[in-house]
Parts: sequence; structure tokens; C-alpha cells
Amino acid sequence: MRLLCLLHMVCLAGVGGSRARDWAHHGAPMFADLTVREMKAVRAYLHAVPELQLADARSKTLMKNSILLMELHLPRKHEALRVLDRGQARPPRQARVVVLMGNQTGPNITEYIVGPLPAPNSHQVKTFKGGRPVRFESRPITSSEYEHITDILKKITTTAHQLLLETTGGFSFSNCSDRCLTFSDIAPRGLGPGERRTWVMLQKFVEGYFIHPVGFEVLINHRDLDPDKWTVEKVWYNSRYFDSVEELVEQYESGGVEKLQLPDHDVNDLYSTYIPRGQSSTPTDVHGPKLVEPQGHRYFIDHNFVEYAGWSFAYRVRSSAGLQVFDLRFKGERIAYEISLQEAIAFYSGDTPAAMQTKYIDAGWAMGSSTYELASGIDCPEISTFVDLHHYSDTDKPVLHRNALCIFEMTTAMPLRRHFNSNFKGGYNFYGGLDNTVLVLRTTATVYNYDYIWDFLFYQNGVVEVKVSATGYIHATFFTPNGLHYGTRVHHHVLGNLHTHLIHYKVDLDVAGEHRAAFGFKRLCEGRNSSVIVCTRQRMKDQRKFQSIFL
Ligand SMILES: *[C@@H]1O[C@H](CO)[C@@H](O)[C@H](O)[C@H]1NC(C)=O
Ligand SMILES: *[C@@H]1O[C@H](CO)[C@@H](O)[C@H](O)[C@H]1NC(C)=O
Ligand SMILES: *[C@@H]1O[C@H](CO)[C@@H](O)[C@H](O)[C@H]1NC(C)=O
Ligand SMILES: *[C@@H]1O[C@H](CO)[C@@H](O)[C@H](O)[C@H]1NC(C)=O
Repeated sequence: MRLLCLLHMVCLAGVGGSRARDWAHHGAPMFADLTVREMKAVRAYLHAVPELQLADARSKTLMKNSILLMELHLPRKHEALRVLDRGQARPPRQARVVVLMGNQTGPNITEYIVGPLPAPNSHQVKTFKGGRPVRFESRPITSSEYEHITDILKKITTTAHQLLLETTGGFSFSNCSDRCLTFSDIAPRGLGPGERRTWVMLQKFVEGYFIHPVGFEVLINHRDLDPDKWTVEKVWYNSRYFDSVEELVEQYESGGVEKLQLPDHDVNDLYSTYIPRGQSSTPTDVHGPKLVEPQGHRYFIDHNFVEYAGWSFAYRVRSSAGLQVFDLRFKGERIAYEISLQEAIAFYSGDTPAAMQTKYIDAGWAMGSSTYELASGIDCPEISTFVDLHHYSDTDKPVLHRNALCIFEMTTAMPLRRHFNSNFKGGYNFYGGLDNTVLVLRTTATVYNYDYIWDFLFYQNGVVEVKVSATGYIHATFFTPNGLHYGTRVHHHVLGNLHTHLIHYKVDLDVAGEHRAAFGFKRLCEGRNSSVIVCTRQRMKDQRKFQSIFL
């Protein structure tokens, strides 16, 4: 009787394996990002709802109702599990749409759940825990608002035209040809709820302008939805604060403020460019090592469903947050329901007002939709599979991001394990080893100066690694002697500010079943006797890497 049971279970397990695989494949579209057709349908549907009175996001007025962002609204986990674990029909797809309601008394931000896709016919307001509305002032900045920021900066820099010319050696914000100024605005835009005022710093508009601050910062209050009512609250120049641009200019002209003069601008200085410099003893006209797949790819991709070496998962690139993996299985068993990038934050210290107030919360700077084209051979190996992405963020139509995600298998140039069994007589009894190859899923996010590189790595032994690398430019501010308490001088007039990166992932492990996972590791080991599962969990726990990189 016992033997029969055992055989029965083995048989079921065998059938279950391929069925589980089919169900994982069948469920993956639940996690797929919105298609172009779906985005267009959602926009058309909401724009036809009379009471919403939606206007184009890109129109210049701020006093309007407009779509800020739309992305997939995930099904609830218990619904998704019926699909993934029992092969049931997928629930209808829905979109989550963030709408700026700027054309009403008491402007607010409202989120709508719109469905069913691809032919939506209903929308509901999405409510949040605590029921508190999101303050309109805390919304992300849009391209429309930037147009007005540029307008007020034109006025400010016209007033300070002579000062800026003399300080920078001929650079100006308007009416410039090859010597132009640009700006960076920092966040948060205030220190209390309901504020919306931003420190803006001027920079030379050259390659790598992030590290060319000119020592002029201005605090603009842009809370009012009528840009004519915006005001300048403070100006910072040469380590001193002024209440208005006029006050600064007056003191500058009357000798009441020490004049600052940057060194002559050298157009041939490679400092902030990406042009290679210096000498290398390694020939650069000869190719370095390359990855090859002599017999083609060993992984399988069907839309957002991927299989490799016992792994399967579904992925998406959420327009607000970025790269996310769902229903992660190893040998058919779910290891994690979700491992998803949620947020990246950088906190700065500094001596100038812009520097000391900077705390960037990057999802608010469209981190998930700042996924640009990857260069084959540099950003990803030439053998990669490149995938196009689409985002709907601060736009009036879906935007194509060509080749913005790559998937590739690579060698690690390290054995996964090896043993040389010496016979202690100058020979050996046996040697055993296994080469270590991994599958990599990669996107990047260029959030203004920073370039984050987001990787998920899947090892043959059940290890999954989550990795972020940071490159691009530092967020730098104007050098003052006191700034040395808050950073390092990286150029004549430039301070590289000390800062900390925090990267947030949601990790929903589902080892040995959904509910038991909540009780912790010990209980899991007792509850189930599958060495594969326990071992995988153990390794994940030990080896999952959360790197923060300090630039
Ligand atoms: C704002 O709302 C008013 C009244 O509902 C409407 O007439 C006007 O066109 C709206 N403005 C914009 C920019 O949508
Ligand atoms: C925000 O505005 C929308 C649209 O007018 C309205 O339905 C909703 O009740 C408002 N939310 C809050 C919390 O006031
Ligand atoms: C730029 O040119 C315009 C048009 O000629 C002029 O009105 C404006 O004053 C100029 N601005 C500066 C800063 O010179
Ligand atoms: C699982 O392993 C534990 C500890 O090794 C053992 O006591 C238990 O009988 C096993 N359960 C099954 C169902 O084999």
C-alpha cells in the first residue's frame, strides 16, 4: 500500500512538472507591461470620460487635468496563483493611471484602475491606506512645468546677464551660441507639506554639464498653477545669500559683493567628456575577449517569459520603478512570487543650498521609464537578445524605447565547483569540475546625471543574484572651502558631494508554498523534505546581493 502511494506520487510529480511549466508559461502574460494598443485604448477611453475633462499632458498650461503615467495594474496575488498553480483562465488585464487633476478647486492627484484591456469600459478611483489624498504640490515635475521654469530662468538671467557673463567668461542662458548655460533643479521641492519651491543651479552647457556648476543658485517658488505668480525667494552667489536677483545685481555693481571669476573656459579640456585620454600599454586597436555561443542561445524567451537551466520567470519593466521579476521558479517550484525593483534614493550633503537640500527619490524622476537603448558590445555583449520597451510617462502617446532590455548567457570565468583529488604521490585520483555560466537580465535607467545598470543573474545551482551598478556623472555642486566638510574637490570649482544610495527591492519569497513562507525558514525545513527547495532558499538567503555603490 505504501509503495503504491509512493509510486502514485512520483507519477503525479512527473506529470506535475510539465503541467507546472505550462501553467507558468500560461500565467506570464499577467505580468507583461501594457502594449502600445492597450496604452492607446486607455488614453482614448479616459479622454472620452466627460467628467474628467482631460487635456493633453504636453500642453503648456498647468491648470489642466492630464494623464501623468500609465502602467500595468497587477492582479492580486491570490488571483494570479489560481492561474499559475491551477491553470485557470487569466483575470482581465487592467491599467493603473496616474492623473494630475489640476483644473479643479482643490487640485489633487487621482489614480484610476482602468479595464478590462484591451477594450476598457470602466474606471475606478484607487484608494490608499489611510485614505489621505496625495498633495498636488508633491507631484513629479513634467515637461510642461520645465517650460515655465525655463521662462522664469530667462527673466532671472537677463537681470543678472552682465554678472553671469563676467563670472563665467562669456556664458549666458539666452541669446547664446557656443557659450550657453543650462540648469539642474534639485528635490525635494520644499521642507514641509504643501510647498513647491526648488533650488536651481546654473551650469555651463557643455558635454558633462553636471560637473560644470558656475556658482549661481536660485530658489524659485513655483507652487502656483499660474506661472505669472511664481517668485524668486533667494539667490546664492559666491557663498552669500540675497533676497532677490535685483539685490544681488545692485550689490555686484556697487562693489558690495566680491566678484567671482571662473578660469578661462578651455574648449579642449577633456575633463567632463567621455573622450578617452591618457596612455595604455594594452593595444586599443586589437579586440579584447568576446563571448560566443557556438551553437546558439541555450535559453528560451516567449514575450516576457524566460527559461534557462531549470529557471523560469516572467518579467516586466514598470514605468515608475523599473525591472521586476515574477513567478520565479527553479525546477518547476516557485522560489519567489516577486523580486522587484521599487525605488532608488540618494541623499546628499553639501555647503551650497542646492547641495545640502538634495534628496533624490528617483521613481519620482521617472526612473522606470528612463530606459534608453543599449549599445551592443558595451552595455550588453553582442550575443544578447535585445528587447524593445514602451512607456507612457509625461507624454500623449506611447513612447518606444528600442533595445532597452537585454538578455544574455555569459561565462563567469570561475568554476561553479571543482576538486583536484591528490594521491599525495605527485599524481591524482580524479579531477572533477563544472563551468559556471549564468543568464543575465539587464536594463539601465539614466536619471539625469546617473546611469544605473540593473541586473538579475540566474545561476545553474539555484542562486539568483540581484545587482545594481552606478555610473554616469556625479551630482556635483560649486566648490566652496567649507564644502570640504561635505565632499571632495574634483576640479577647480567643483565639489563632488558626499552621498548615500539606497536601493529598495520588494522580495516576496514563496519557498515551499505561499503561506508557510511567512513563518520563516525553520518551519519551512520541518514542513517539507525537498532538499532542492531548502537548499535553494538557503543559497538565496546567503548569496543574494544588494550592492550599494558610493560615488
Ligand atoms: C478647465 O475646466 C474648465 C471648466 O470645466 C474648462 O472649460 C476648461 O477648458 C478646462 N481647461 C483645460 C486646460 O482643460
Ligand atoms: C480628487 O479629485 C477627484 C476628481 O475631481 C475626486 O473624485 C476625488 O474625490 C478627489 N480626491 C480627494 C481625496 O479629494
Ligand atoms: C535676447 O534677445 C532678445 C531678442 O533680441 C532680447 O529681447 C533680449 O533682451 C535678449 N536677452 C539678453 C539676455 O540679452
Ligand atoms: C522529513 O524529515 C524529518 C527530519 O529529517 C523526518 O523526521 C520526517 O519523518 C520526514 N518526513 C517525511 C514525510 O519524510
